[in-house]
Amino acid sequence: MSKDEVFKENMQSIGDFTFSKNVASVFDDMLERCVPLYQEIQRMIVEMAVDFSVDGTNVYDLGCSTGTTLLNLGQNIQSKVKFIGYDYSEEMLAKCKQKLDEHQFPRDYDLICADLNQGVHIENASVVTMLLTLQFIRPLKRDMLIGNILRGLNENGCLILVEKVLGEDSFFNRLFIKYYYDFKKRNGYSELEIAQKREALENVLIPYKLLENRELLLKEGFRYCDIFFKWYNFCGVVAVK
Ligand SMILES: C[S@@+](CC[C@H](N)C(=O)[O-])C[C@H]1O[C@@H](n2cnc3c(N)ncnc32)[C@H](O)[C@@H]1O
Repeated sequence: MSKDEVFKENMQSIGDFTFSKNVASVFDDMLERCVPLYQEIQRMIVEMAVDFSVDGTNVYDLGCSTGTTLLNLGQNIQSKVKFIGYDYSEEMLAKCKQKLDEHQFPRDYDLICADLNQGVHIENASVVTMLLTLQFIRPLKRDMLIGNILRGLNENGCLILVEKVLGEDSFFNRLFIKYYYDFKKRNGYSELEIAQKREALENVLIPYKLLENRELLLKEGFRYCDIFFKWYNFCGVVAVK
């Protein structure tokens, strides 16, 4: 796995973060070192997806990046389903295809290159996963996207959402962000790397509060919604149609 050193050198000017080729090439290391308990989150998602998947339906991963989630889902779900990964980064999808090929992914699957800001076409879905991706969708487009997902899910189908979130008030928000940067330092990132990445993400990654995400899901019509994971400013929510 190549090491993430995207923000290691001092940069003269810092542009907006993009999911470009240099990010795609180190992305698995970036996720491991930037997302607390990422392996456990993956394990929990798979555990739930196994229970919700139904023969003859589709399982979607929105913002599939390099295909880690698709691979884990495909290796564990026994139901006869088709897997569909969505991402707007061609570089990410190329890495995804390469990873699935390397593992001789034995499942029926499609990878679709499309911008989720335009909405998404989902049909006959029993499970939709969206990890650390809704936070990159323009806030004005999020209601529409969640509505698209809801309509494409079958009755009793689920959406599994993982997001970076804001604390419910600025007091805890500040504290949680401090703990998060300490976590990144423990994983080998320097103060400079952390500061430069924060600046690059500022206009691109727009987190909601946990309760705002929950409200969005319920408002669009999900029947049940619960939190399955929380670590300071990271949160996993599962919602059922
Ligand atoms: C943080 S990564 C997701 C990580 C991945 N789900 C995982 O856990 O392995 C966000 C992904 O969403 C994709 N993305 C961001 N905005 C998007 C958009 N508007 N349409 C489609 N994909 C988007 C990016 O290209 C990137 O691959």
